[in-house]
Amino acid sequence: MGAGAGASIVLASVGVKAAPRLAGVDIDALLARMTLDEKLGQLAQARGEKNDTGPFVPAGSEADVRAGRIGSFLSVYGAETTRRLQRIAVDETRLGIPLLFADDVIHGFRTIFPVPIAEAASFDPAAAEAAARIAAVEATANGLHWTYAPMVDMTRDPRWGRVVEGAGEDVELACRFAEARVRGFQGRRLSDFDAMLATAKHFVAYGDAEGGRDYDVADASARRLAEYYYPPFQAAIAAGVASIMVAFNEVNGVPMHANRDLLHDLLRRDWHFGGLIVSDYTGIRELIAHGVAATDEEAGILALKAGIDIDMVSSIYVDALPAAVRDGKVDVALVDAAVRRILSIKAALGLFDDPYRNCDPARAKRETLRPAHRVAARDLARKSLVLLQNEGDVLPLSKMLRSVAVVGPLADDRRSMLGPWAPTGVPGDAVTPLEGIGAALGAGAHVVHASGGEAALAAAREADAVILCIGENWDESGEARSRVALDLAPDQQALAAAILALGKPVATVIFAGRPLTINALAQHAPAILWAWYPGVEAGHALADILFGDVSPSGRLPMSFPRAVGQIPIHYDQRNTGRPASESERNTAKYVDAPWTPLYPFGHGLGYSPVAYEALELSATRLDRTDPLEVRFSVRNAGIRAVEEVVQLYLRDDVATTTRPVKALKRFARVPLEPGEIKQVRFVLGASDFALLDRNLRPVVEPGGFTLLVGGSSKTELEAKVTLEGAEERAV
Ligand code: GLC
Repeated sequence: MGAGAGASIVLASVGVKAAPRLAGVDIDALLARMTLDEKLGQLAQARGEKNDTGPFVPAGSEADVRAGRIGSFLSVYGAETTRRLQRIAVDETRLGIPLLFADDVIHGFRTIFPVPIAEAASFDPAAAEAAARIAAVEATANGLHWTYAPMVDMTRDPRWGRVVEGAGEDVELACRFAEARVRGFQGRRLSDFDAMLATAKHFVAYGDAEGGRDYDVADASARRLAEYYYPPFQAAIAAGVASIMVAFNEVNGVPMHANRDLLHDLLRRDWHFGGLIVSDYTGIRELIAHGVAATDEEAGILALKAGIDIDMVSSIYVDALPAAVRDGKVDVALVDAAVRRILSIKAALGLFDDPYRNCDPARAKRETLRPAHRVAARDLARKSLVLLQNEGDVLPLSKMLRSVAVVGPLADDRRSMLGPWAPTGVPGDAVTPLEGIGAALGAGAHVVHASGGEAALAAAREADAVILCIGENWDESGEARSRVALDLAPDQQALAAAILALGKPVATVIFAGRPLTINALAQHAPAILWAWYPGVEAGHALADILFGDVSPSGRLPMSFPRAVGQIPIHYDQRNTGRPASESERNTAKYVDAPWTPLYPFGHGLGYSPVAYEALELSATRLDRTDPLEVRFSVRNAGIRAVEEVVQLYLRDDVATTTRPVKALKRFARVPLEPGEIKQVRFVLGASDFALLDRNLRPVVEPGGFTLLVGGSSKTELEAKVTLEGAEERAV
């Protein structure tokens, strides 16, 4: 396959029109000049280190660059640092191939936005796209070319700490956020100076981890893979994602880092993904621990044959594969194909024309943490906060309050506001709840802070109102933070009980990277606001909601279990032959707890009730290929402006396979002034009615369907439609 063809496959998948000479570079001519060691050096990704002053490269890295043993770096950034390394690559190596610099810019570079699951709670993909765009503007101004985001792993298990990085339990929501974030990071064209390669990760089924234990076995049926774990990756690929990162786990007995069926046959051959496939951190060497390789060389051969282009940090490709290729154990054509892809991506980014395009200190200073970026972070943080309950309308609190106690371990915890995955963030940039509340109330108010114990109780006793900030700190969620129990810490539960017993207005704000089990608290705390980790503007966004400048509008992207024993619990379950019933004994339920979640998917309150009215369909019978229009009204029945998240669900009443009791198909944020009525209109097409038949082929079957609408998955109105005509293969 010639450069043009090779390059065109790579570039087509990332939305760049290929040309025989790619952005001024003849990829094949360059490849033909490379030695085997130089080729394998391009596939090696080394890591940076970090100390209090920022990132730095470990000793020996410059020599490795000079020797052509490194093609890209992880966790090395900064205009000056990257310029220094880039100059060595360009001026002091035989072929002058520029380096790529990558990092985990997951939800912001320096302007840290709410964690991804919080962004998903906004049900506002456009806002997430704008956040990713700002992250790319800042990250590329600071030397980076490539981010390892969006994480698009589906999961229904909050025991798994990486729930914080995803978009929750629902495929439709996850797909919309996956494509939005890819567009945000990559921008219009990769050749734009502020474009950043996005990475859909971790392929695949990482969230299926047995027992909720990070890195553990994923044992998923072909149907579960196709219906649940694949779609967000397919959405990211359709959006032109430039790279995919391989998951640490095995899938059904085959570790992903050695899984040619899924990495080559499915991703490359069937889905035509032409971008880079990057291992996860030392994921190739972990094939030895998985027990499918005895040596580094065996692991490297398996990974290259599976289709992995870039070896993140294990140095196996560059150290062990030269001999393997020379001994005929692995075909150099596989090396060439991988090198061609990374050279093409470097060319698409324009690095052969201007290797220093992201190494300008003046641009870094201009673009980083701009006020406008903070404004966007505050707006998205406000949209991500979820009001779980508000008994007696405790919230919003009055700004006329003159004495407020802001207590609890998270009340002034600057670091936790950034969440577990903000390696390029600076905790000092974050506004804490205490600071935000103090700023909102002004100098005339007496705001007292205590993080816990007797001091917190004493402060609460003296105050007119209490804002209690509890939950998980930043290091209790995220990678390698699996939990067997999801309760609040005992001291936090005790503090909450003591403060609630005072009988004062108490707003309980919970920070966490996942759903927690808060049954006892929910019985006694009148107002509970779920804050996740809101980012640099945490305190101001919180105050905006607590004091009613803005109504809360976030919705839960995951069901909240009452008990860990309910997990996996999700709204789109199948009905079973004995659906749970209060009255019937032998049905799908528990004897020691309700079968329902404490709070369902899509749940969230605003400061006004919203009525759903006048649901109507453009037809009650229609041919499968015709669009169906769904119309309904929403009315603000309160005295405060709100932004409602309207949700449309679909149930296939009878099908050739079992179907979810309902599945989210559309959602939208609808601003409503007090008393205002708006009509909402959604249009569904054939693909919305499709299912995977018994052979996992997408089909649209005739028959009855139910449309359900509401402000959460506990929908309020429904209507029926019948699709007519013979079964048809869906597109
Ligand atoms: C980590 C994570 C991955 C991340 C990579 C580089 O272990 O699994 O999501 O992008 O290493 O930091």
